[in-house]
Amino acid sequence: MYDKQRILSEISKTKIVPVIKIDDVADTRPLLRALSAGGINIAEITYRTACAPDAISLALKEFPQMIIGAGTVINLVQAEQAAALGAHFIVSPGFDESIAGFCNSKGIIYFGGCVTPTEIMKAVSMGQEIIKFFPSESFGGLKTIKALAAPFPQIKFMPTGGINKDNIREYLSCNKIIACGGSWMVKDELIKSGDFAAVTRLTAEALLEVNR
Ligand code: 3PG
Repeated sequence: MYDKQRILSEISKTKIVPVIKIDDVADTRPLLRALSAGGINIAEITYRTACAPDAISLALKEFPQMIIGAGTVINLVQAEQAAALGAHFIVSPGFDESIAGFCNSKGIIYFGGCVTPTEIMKAVSMGQEIIKFFPSESFGGLKTIKALAAPFPQIKFMPTGGINKDNIREYLSCNKIIACGGSWMVKDELIKSGDFAAVTRLTAEALLEVNR
């Protein structure tokens, strides 16, 4: 069983959270094996497809060495389901107070999406310490994160949206950023074509870039 601190320290140590969309639950196994072989033992499996709960459940059962989160959680019902499955963290594209309240009551890590000072104020009032900044590149990327960090020194950011191996180092040079999320190593077309070797290669490349 992972506690909150261990999950957060694994995320901030790895610095990359792969954002995954699984259309066919049978892809879960080879995909997570490929990520793990590339050196990343974290996966955010998004509620963008009907089989997300099955994929999360399989991942938690068969990959106990991995941190498995539920992403694109957009309502309380999904959050409750993900928590019941045992998801290690919950991510939303926007900030939802009912999800934040639920996660607080269960002691589950919640990365709610914020891009404005008003949204961050709401997150702060609910005791959040880390927010998702999404879609990062569309909302000004690192420049906006630095501007937002000034009035909210207690807040850390997990940007996602438009991040890849060419800009991740720049993001991570900012000490307000604990990790970056992204789908560039787990693209739809790679999963659909069964090119899991490419997933491993892109994952390893991403880690090399972050740690060079
Ligand atoms: C997310 O929900 O975090 C994003 O879809 C990831 O963004 P990307 O696909 O641009 O990496």
